[in-house]
Amino acid sequence: MKSYKELPDDAGSNIIGQVTAQANRLSKRLSSVKHTIAVMSGKGGVGKSAITTNLATALTLKGYSVGIVDADINGPSIAKMMGVRNITLEYTKSGILPATSLLGTKIISMDLLLAEDDAPVMWNAQTQKDAFTWRTTMEVGALREFIGDTEWGDLDYLLLDLPPGSDRLPNVVELIPNLGGVVVVTIPSEVSHLIVKKSITMARDILKVPMIGVVENMAYYVCKHCGEPEPLFSPQNTPDHVFDEIRLGRIPFDPKLSLSNDSGTPYLSEYPDTPATKAITEIAHKIQNFFNT
Ligand SMILES: Nc1ncnc2c1ncn2[C@@H]1O[C@H](COP(=O)(O)OP(=O)(O)OP(=O)(O)O)[C@@H](O)[C@H]1O
Ligand SMILES: [Mg+2]
Repeated sequence: MKSYKELPDDAGSNIIGQVTAQANRLSKRLSSVKHTIAVMSGKGGVGKSAITTNLATALTLKGYSVGIVDADINGPSIAKMMGVRNITLEYTKSGILPATSLLGTKIISMDLLLAEDDAPVMWNAQTQKDAFTWRTTMEVGALREFIGDTEWGDLDYLLLDLPPGSDRLPNVVELIPNLGGVVVVTIPSEVSHLIVKKSITMARDILKVPMIGVVENMAYYVCKHCGEPEPLFSPQNTPDHVFDEIRLGRIPFDPKLSLSNDSGTPYLSEYPDTPATKAITEIAHKIQNFFNT
């Protein structure tokens, strides 16, 4: 199949002109963003969105200006986790104003554009079968518009919460060629490690994106009776040594974190002394060091 760049005749749609104009808008917007970070995992449900929101909050609390792009177009969860689902986006001549969380993090998400809670994202095509064929192209186009049309202002950090799958990162790199780095999320199970190693190969070895590191989420839980860390997944609870060199930290499972995500309230400021808050804050600190900020 030919890409739009190779089309000899675009039947008057000027698709190349349109895409080029969008790409130019995107790179102009990104010129006011110091560092871009993609949060990814080959595996679904490991806590990418929870980590994105909490790292963004940790960096915001440290005084940085931070934005989040919910790059999960079909399963957006950032707006809910950041407590901005009910905000109506404002449009100005220079673009869409992102939603702003209680603490000042800026957010753009497909969720803010959907009218109903249960409305799925439907791509326009003659049939849904055609739409499926073009899905990736349309998703990349939507993401290009999302980032390019949003009035971010000056940002220190822009975090992108990716949908599951290591095949999503090449799309992001096409849009943001000088992506600052990647944070890979896993849980301590062999199944997750197996898949996540593929994500690392894709990011580091194939796409040559700077690897900030791996976060082991739900690494353990703290027993409420004895206060000791207990394994949540495999009984050995052994961290995989493959990640030793690039591990950013191990975040415990904490039901309060899940509750805060569900209610859209900032876990870090509500529970400043928990092991999970300490782990997340420490990871944010390592990110600062990575970028020398
Ligand atoms: N450390 C944690 N402690 C407690 N709950 C957590 C933790 N990390 C994530 N969760 C919860 O687990 C669920 C799944 O997390 P999340 O939605 O962030 O995963 P995801 O990797 O983004 O999923 P998807 O692949 O669907 O995008 C959410 O309800 C979230 O609040
Ligand atoms: Mg998610």
